[in-house]
Amino acid sequence: MKAMQFAGYGGPDKIRAAELPVPAAGAGEIPVKVAATSINPIDWKLHGGMLRWIRPLHFPSTPCFDFAGEVAAAGEGVGAFRPGERVFGMLPLRQLGAAAEYLAVDQAYAAPMPEGLGFAEAAALPLAGMTALQALRDDGGLVAGQRVLVSGAAGGVGHYGVQIAKALGAHVTALCRPAKHALARELGADAALDYAAAPADAAQRYDLILDTTHHQGFGRWRRWLTPRGKYVALLPLPGLLLHKLTLPLYSSQRAAVTFLKPNRADLEQLADWVRQKRLRTVLDGIYPLEELGKAMERSRSGRPSGKIVVRIDG
Ligand SMILES: NC(=O)c1ccc[n+]([C@@H]2O[C@H](COP(=O)([O-])OP(=O)(O)OC[C@H]3O[C@@H](n4cnc5c(N)ncnc54)[C@H](OP(=O)(O)O)[C@@H]3O)[C@@H](O)[C@H]2O)c1
Repeated sequence: MKAMQFAGYGGPDKIRAAELPVPAAGAGEIPVKVAATSINPIDWKLHGGMLRWIRPLHFPSTPCFDFAGEVAAAGEGVGAFRPGERVFGMLPLRQLGAAAEYLAVDQAYAAPMPEGLGFAEAAALPLAGMTALQALRDDGGLVAGQRVLVSGAAGGVGHYGVQIAKALGAHVTALCRPAKHALARELGADAALDYAAAPADAAQRYDLILDTTHHQGFGRWRRWLTPRGKYVALLPLPGLLLHKLTLPLYSSQRAAVTFLKPNRADLEQLADWVRQKRLRTVLDGIYPLEELGKAMERSRSGRPSGKIVVRIDG
């Protein structure tokens, strides 16, 4: 089968096309013919060696986590899934390998695709969508009626975050560059602010902040929070971890860091919202598998609107 692989730590010059055997599905695993995968910042961070202390790579290594495709065959691991059924999901951190024509995935990490959804949109959804959901619902404890600020509201996690916060009943303010305010409003944001904005008064404070950009420290974010407000980040920056530990000693505000835990129930929740037309994917671009390096560079630019997808099936 066709695949793209990292030949070593580095950039696009360390990405190669490869011909690999089709992976055999083990007990409890579904064989999937992959139609599309998507790029997340973790893909180029792993390749750059930035995460080698938690997740070292062994080269050659087939990258990417998200997938959408069809169940390739009947077998022991297929369970409730039927051969030919369209599925989407995410490989767990220990596994990788969705930038290939076939993969085998534990059924705990896959779900049926919502009817009518394209492979590109489905492949975009798992990692970023589940992160936004778990950050808002689990770590943020979002309650209907709360005021939520999403920083990086037009990015991969952020654009799902705006829509999920709305689906959970929040009043949502999008923080992103002015050129993306129209998109944020189309996604359902009630208000949009530029990064240069500052919280002018109590009316502009938030019960929950989902921060996908980490462009300012928690000390500054605190001024945006209500007295019992919660700040949820996606990167475990050292200063923030210190605040998370010490904040309860002197304040009712809280800080948390989300670490995504992929699971089928959350994929099904996302699929339900897609069916109800409350959640959609904005595609920044679609690249052929051979241009995986270009797709990763686009993600590394930090400027995408929505998600970057890689088509496997041409
Ligand atoms: N902990 C976890 O489990 C987990 C899961 C998923 C992602 N993450 C992390 O979360 C972050 C966001 O992921 P993503 O997929 O949403 O990334 P993304 O699609 O690249 O979006 C990031 C957004 O950040 C904004 N941005 C970029 N550079 C900025 C800067 N210097 N100042 C202010 N804003 C900036 C951009 O929006 P504008 O164009 O509006 O500036 C962009 O839309 C990444 O660091 C990723 O590694 C963590």
